Amino acid sequence: MPFYFSGELMTITEEFDSNKNKMNLENIYNSSQHIILEVGNYIQNEAKNFDRGSVETKSINQLVSYVDKTAEEMLVNKLIKLIPNCNFFTEEATSERKLGEWTWVIDPLDGTTNYIHGLNVYSVSVGLMQNEKCVMGFVYDITRNEMFAAKKNGGAFLNHQPIAISNVSSLSDALLATGFPYYDFAKMPQYIEVLKDFMKNTHGLRRMGSAAIDLAYTACGRFDGFFEYALSPWDVAGGSIIVEEAGGIVTDFKGGENYIFGNSIIAANPKLFNEFRKTLEIHGLL
Ligand code: IPD
Ligand code: CA
Ligand code: CA
Repeated sequence: MPFYFSGELMTITEEFDSNKNKMNLENIYNSSQHIILEVGNYIQNEAKNFDRGSVETKSINQLVSYVDKTAEEMLVNKLIKLIPNCNFFTEEATSERKLGEWTWVIDPLDGTTNYIHGLNVYSVSVGLMQNEKCVMGFVYDITRNEMFAAKKNGGAFLNHQPIAISNVSSLSDALLATGFPYYDFAKMPQYIEVLKDFMKNTHGLRRMGSAAIDLAYTACGRFDGFFEYALSPWDVAGGSIIVEEAGGIVTDFKGGENYIFGNSIIAANPKLFNEFRKTLEIHGLL
C-alpha cells in the first residue's frame, strides 16, 4: 500500500494545546511523517543528477554531500515548528548538538555511501527523545516509499499498517543483518569470527548499508536480527524504538539499554535474542 497523507501539515499553534501547555503527541507523530516524506522526496530528486564531484570526506570512509546537509536543514527547520524549544542532535551538526527535554535525533541520509554510488538503499532516520528516552521513531526507506513509524506504547507501523517482529526461534532459520566496520577496526578479528559462524549456521547475512533500514527491516520481520558496533546515535534512534514497538528486544553489546549513545546495538526477536547474542559473546565481540 503506498504511503500517503490525507491531512495538511499541522501548524505550531495546532500542535500546542495552549490551555494546558501540553503537546499533542499524536499531531507531532503525524506531522513528523509528513515532513520526513517531503525531505525524502527532495533526496530522491537530487539522486537523478547527483554529481560525485560534490562529495566531501569528513574522515576515513565518512562521506557527505550537499544533499545530506540540505536535507538536514530542511528537517531541522520544519521539525522545530512542531515542538517549541526543542533541541537537535544531528549527524551533520547544521544546528548545535544539544540534548534537552525534547530532542530530535536525526540522520538526514542514512546510507550516504550507497547514495553516492547510485545504489538505491538509503533512508531518513529520525528519533524524538523525551529526556533520556526515545518516544517516537521514523525510518523512511526512500526508494521503496516505505515509512516505518512507532511511538512509545503505540505499536509499530509500515505505511500505516501494523508490523511485528519475526517469529523465528532458531538461528538456523534466521536471516541476519549487520554493518561492516569501516573506521574502527579494533574488533575486526572477533567480528570476522562471528561472520564465519553466521555464514555457516544461518540463512545468511546482509549488509544493507543503512543501519536505520536494518532496524526497520528487523522490526517488520524481513530480518530476524541485526548487530553492529561503532554506530552513532542518529543511526539508531529512529529504528530502535520501531523494533521495540514491533515486539523486539534491543540492547547494547553489554546487554544494557545504552544502545542509542553507547555505540553498539543488538536487535532481534525475543525467541532468538539469547542465541544470537551468545554467538557474538563466544567469539569475543561483546
Ligand atoms: C552509516 C550506515 C551504515 C552503517 C554505518 C553508518 P551514513 O551511516 O548506517 O549502514 O554501517 O555505521 O555510519 O554514514 O550512511 O549516515
Ligand atoms: Ca548514518
Ligand atoms: Ca548520514
